[in-house]
Amino acid sequence: MEQPMKHRVLEILEQSRDGDISGSKIAAQLGITRAAVWKAIRALEKEGHRIEAVPRRGYRLLPDSDILSAEAIGLHLATRTLGRGLVVLPSVDSTNTYLKNLALRGAKEGTTVVADCQTGGRGRLGRTFVSPAGCGIYMSVLFRPKGSPDQSALITACGAVAVARAVEEVTGVSPQIKWVNDLMVEGKKICGILTEAAMELESGGLDYLIVGIGINVRRLPEEFPQPVRQVAGAIDTFAARPFSRSRLAAAVLNHLEEEAGRMDTGAYLEEYRARSCVLGRPVTVVGDPAGKVWQAVEIDDQARLVVEDETGARQVLNSREISVRTL
Ligand code: BTN
Repeated sequence: MEQPMKHRVLEILEQSRDGDISGSKIAAQLGITRAAVWKAIRALEKEGHRIEAVPRRGYRLLPDSDILSAEAIGLHLATRTLGRGLVVLPSVDSTNTYLKNLALRGAKEGTTVVADCQTGGRGRLGRTFVSPAGCGIYMSVLFRPKGSPDQSALITACGAVAVARAVEEVTGVSPQIKWVNDLMVEGKKICGILTEAAMELESGGLDYLIVGIGINVRRLPEEFPQPVRQVAGAIDTFAARPFSRSRLAAAVLNHLEEEAGRMDTGAYLEEYRARSCVLGRPVTVVGDPAGKVWQAVEIDDQARLVVEDETGARQVLNSREISVRTL
């Protein structure tokens, strides 16, 4: 389907983020009049894009113009499958739920849903994931792997490595990974991942996997309760340079495709361990009434956390039911 003209203009503005581009250049590239360019610019501004028009120089997207769009994500995408079916929504209850419905209707591997805001964002263990507009990237990616349900823990670990790499590439910030699925910067959570799987009844194998990624990009507004604001970090407060959410979303898809494509080599586990902020530290298991303190000694090849007590007795923690708190 032909893209609306305003989206093609947006694509050109995204490509020229570093400087101005004249109305006549845009018009020539698209084979339209300068008046039509102006009309498209007005329509984009109405959608909330912040565009500066400088007489005799042209147009440019302001650095703080940061609306998630399929055009801007597409511009930075270097994938074969992930994000090639892409839905970008201003608001949705949960991108995981939305994508699940697409999966049930036969959506292809790689289909991705990105939202600016979630009204019912879900976290692990039945928690909610705070997802206000303009603050984050809330995205879900569909996989249709051949393997067993055990793969969901591995793909979560793989996702954590991919997001860490993307954040590092785009923002210059190097996140650590808190087993199993949280990305941390200076003790603040900047990303959480919720992987959900559906089984095929007949074969008992996986029908699909949805990797849901929530990234905290900008500081949560004051109206959020203090405990939530205390736990959540915002990447832009640590970042070495300005960046757009669309660019970061594309980088996540690029790295996720690369890492997921070589999951069988287990290479990502090395990086997962190297980025761990849990290994070698004392931890308690969330919900353990006795609050027993363990030492986190290993992450095994199934991405399970091995903990040891002072007698040397070990336990292997499975990420599906358990969260740990570092002390
Ligand atoms: C966690 O920290 O417990 C996991 C949070 C996962 C949040 C993401 S945001 C996109 C996707 N949609 C959801 O409802 N949840 C995941």
